Amino acid sequence: MTRSGMRGISRRRLLGATGAGAALVGAGAVAGFAAGESASEAPPDPAGEVVAFRGPHQAGIVTPAQDRLHFVALDLTTTDRRAVISLLQRWTAAAERMVAGAEAAPGGAVNRNPEAPPSDTGEALGLPAAALTITFGIGGTLLDKLGIPRPPELADLPPFQQDQLDPAFSGGDLCLQACADDPQVAVHAVRNLVRTGFGTTSVRWSQLGFGRTSSTSTAQQTHRNLFGFKDGTNNLKAEEGALLDEHVWVPPAQGPAWMAGGTYLVARRIRMHVETWDRTSLAEQESLTGRTKGVGAPIGQAQEFDLPNLAPDSPIGADAHIRLASAQNNGGARILRRGYNFVDGSDGLGHLNAGLFFVAFMRDPHRQFVPMQSQLARFDKMMEYIEHTGSAVFAIPPGLGDGGYWGRTVLEG
Ligand code: HEM
Repeated sequence: MTRSGMRGISRRRLLGATGAGAALVGAGAVAGFAAGESASEAPPDPAGEVVAFRGPHQAGIVTPAQDRLHFVALDLTTTDRRAVISLLQRWTAAAERMVAGAEAAPGGAVNRNPEAPPSDTGEALGLPAAALTITFGIGGTLLDKLGIPRPPELADLPPFQQDQLDPAFSGGDLCLQACADDPQVAVHAVRNLVRTGFGTTSVRWSQLGFGRTSSTSTAQQTHRNLFGFKDGTNNLKAEEGALLDEHVWVPPAQGPAWMAGGTYLVARRIRMHVETWDRTSLAEQESLTGRTKGVGAPIGQAQEFDLPNLAPDSPIGADAHIRLASAQNNGGARILRRGYNFVDGSDGLGHLNAGLFFVAFMRDPHRQFVPMQSQLARFDKMMEYIEHTGSAVFAIPPGLGDGGYWGRTVLEG
């Protein structure tokens, strides 16, 4: 998924630029396209801030990880399938507009009847598209509620040792992952979609993230997590098409038909006890991770992208995080990590409520995430410094072709 289009073109400039056109095509024209038209008809973005909304796979998975995240899990407040379909149609139209840098709905924040609430909340006026992607997912509980069989991959995760899961940060019938290079653009997207859902969905939990902890393209530098280590070095990358087919995208033969070209998302809210970590020696921190803190090289190697030596007698310990999580230790399983750091204030005990909002994409959570997390929960000494406090799994259907809306193939067969 490439970022193509218009760096720096703001919603306000789009409004201005289309003022005459809006007059020509009537009230409701925003950002160069009118209600009912698709964002692919929006004007081209000359400098790369608009990510294509439609394609074989949803955006926000192998899209080079943006700087900020707003993730929300929602529950249905109805089991009326027609109401759900209507919402998903409205969500798709709003998302497609916002990703193109437009307001959530025709009429926008200020150009409509002053006696009515505006159709966009307004806080992104004047901001660029900021590489916004909105990724849509379906939880197993939604399928249960609507009487649709769950794919086996969407079975609940087993409990893991040391889990401290809070139901207030777990599960959900639906999810929306908004990523952007501007936090306000991501929040605006989620807020407007949540608002559109009133009467059909309610928010179950939501999470803001910053400082992406994974790179998903070889062109990106590796950022650091809140333990101060480079995170995402040995991740699957957008350029590795064959590996993505092997580990991320659901092939048609796997089934069900509506998931071909889709993937599964595992989210884990992981609290990191940074104060305890910060009292640990550098040598211990590096040995727990299996990599050096400065360069991010595997212990015993010199450069970040040198291959770790995982032979039994290598200097990387048996309980080092990278050994336990490695494909070699997990029957060849790999995942595409796309997590973010978070700090949600403090815990009232003088500690930061900080951590990693772990997000990963894979073909089958039970063959990929489950073995990995079972190993980590039992043997990873890093577990002394972290606590898994939230968990959710969502089916991420494939990308939309022309005219389709999120969830159509699931709900209409
Ligand atoms: C707060 C929790 C976590 C922290 C601080 C953390 C940190 C790191 C760091 C620093 C690396 C080395 C750089 C890299 O290759 O990305 C790494 C690698 C990795 N982590 Fe984590 N991680 C956490 C949780 C998890 C979880 C829950 C999983 C999956 C169940 C996971 C899976 C992996 C994998 C697959 C690798 C690459 C291993 C390899 O080199 O083959 N991590 N992690």
